[in-house]
Amino acid sequence: MATATTQTHKREAFGSRNVFILSAIGSAVGLGNIWRFPYVAYEGGGGAFLIPYLCALITAGIPLLFFDYAIGHRFRGSAPLAFRRMHRAAEPIGWWQVLICVVIAVYYAVIVGWAAMYTWFSSQLTWGAGRENDFFFVDFLRSADVNEVGVSTEFVPQVGIPLILVWLVVIVIMALGVKRGIGTANLVLMPLLTLMFAVLVVQALFLPGALDGLNAFFTPNWEALADPAVWASAYGHIFFSLSVAFGIMVTYASYLKRKTDLTGSGLVVAFANSGFEILAGIGVFAALGFMAQAQGTEVAGVATSGIGLAFIAFPTIVSQATGGTIIGVLFFGALVFAGITSLVSILEVIVAALQDKLGWGRVRTVLTVSIPLAVISMALFSTTTALTVLDTADAFVNAFGIMAVALVAVIVVAWVLHKLPVLQEHLNRRSSFRTGRLWKVLVGVLAPVVLGYLLISEIIAKTSTPYSGYPDWFLAIFGWGMAIALVVIGVLLSLLPWSGRSHAKDDPDYDEFLAEEEYDPDPETGTIPIAQPQEKGAGA
Ligand code: ALA
Repeated sequence: MATATTQTHKREAFGSRNVFILSAIGSAVGLGNIWRFPYVAYEGGGGAFLIPYLCALITAGIPLLFFDYAIGHRFRGSAPLAFRRMHRAAEPIGWWQVLICVVIAVYYAVIVGWAAMYTWFSSQLTWGAGRENDFFFVDFLRSADVNEVGVSTEFVPQVGIPLILVWLVVIVIMALGVKRGIGTANLVLMPLLTLMFAVLVVQALFLPGALDGLNAFFTPNWEALADPAVWASAYGHIFFSLSVAFGIMVTYASYLKRKTDLTGSGLVVAFANSGFEILAGIGVFAALGFMAQAQGTEVAGVATSGIGLAFIAFPTIVSQATGGTIIGVLFFGALVFAGITSLVSILEVIVAALQDKLGWGRVRTVLTVSIPLAVISMALFSTTTALTVLDTADAFVNAFGIMAVALVAVIVVAWVLHKLPVLQEHLNRRSSFRTGRLWKVLVGVLAPVVLGYLLISEIIAKTSTPYSGYPDWFLAIFGWGMAIALVVIGVLLSLLPWSGRSHAKDDPDYDEFLAEEEYDPDPETGTIPIAQPQEKGAGA
């Protein structure tokens, strides 16, 4: 099937299915699990939150994880290429996902940089006992009020320098490639992370007051279950946490060998991610219980918001607990490792997309993607208004990026292109866990209904009151403007021609993949029935 004129280019691959599983867990377990989940869960009713959380995991998280795997593996491409191979007109969905990753990467790296700095601070108790709050906002971030100063350009070196280091580390990992770089990094960092976290949780459980923290975390507040916002936050969290719907799992699955148990791997990844998340909740709340007891207050009083929980509460614990330094180094070190393996996966979405579209080599693409992003993250987030920009970008890209693109993707794939049977057939070909009609109902019906509802409620919430009280002009640029720009630029990128060497054109590697899958040719046309005509020669 391959044409003689086409350059053969073997797609990169993970060394084994286990390395893929480890890398997918590495992507899923990130800042979302350690830094975000404990607080989201607590706010959403403590123990009772586990009910909407598990519902979201089973009805949306896992089905969409399979959906992403099936797209990436069956159409064997980065998000834009895989969607294009499904149907030419679907390519913008892939670019939208790539651009969401651009936004997330730029602020994600910043938090990893903070965590790296705090690992060092923990060993030195740099903040000075009792000054944890002021230290974070005033000394470390030198945070300025955007209402007063506008967007500042004043460089904050203690934030900027670790940020450069984070970028250097991820650039090296990515430049080494999927197998030698990403696979190896996960092979080393994930066991280390698990070990560090296990020690941390056990140590936290032995702190005086730990039980009060666990009680606060696990005592169900049943009334919270009647609040639709709690369900919304559970569904919203699961996408970010599982790395679903923003191209990551599509890209990683495209690096899998042909004969792979997709659903079996997906179940391992999903349950490992949730296990980690719940463990993080236990560890963090045991520590908060200690903190509350030490301060003679309720746990509710010390369970502050996401950023605060990690960068204010934990330093307080480090200052006050026996062996606090170890707790701090383990906690912030774990945050760095978890963050790096996730950041790499976020960047891989962008790198893979450009490699496919332009036909460039890995090192050139990695540098072309990472250097400008590093510069943007330095310019935006090493300044005194970093916190406000970060908070806004995170809130808007989650709601109007990830949830919106997930909604569009399931509607287009299920209802416009009618591809769910194709994807299901592919999933069931080699998997230990066979998906049935329920999967199609969850992806094609329940997911659009839930996501549509969540999106509408987010639009109402964010238009009725300015998010976090930030100025309108600021939200117009970094919130709404950014979210709309992702769609517009996504469409524009899909209009650019594919390079002559790109994989969208006659691609022997893909042809071989399809042929080996033994899809029977259509008796009338002689073509493989589930392959679209536009898959071939669909380039420029
Ligand atoms: N899934 C990654 C996280 O939880 C992005 O942080």
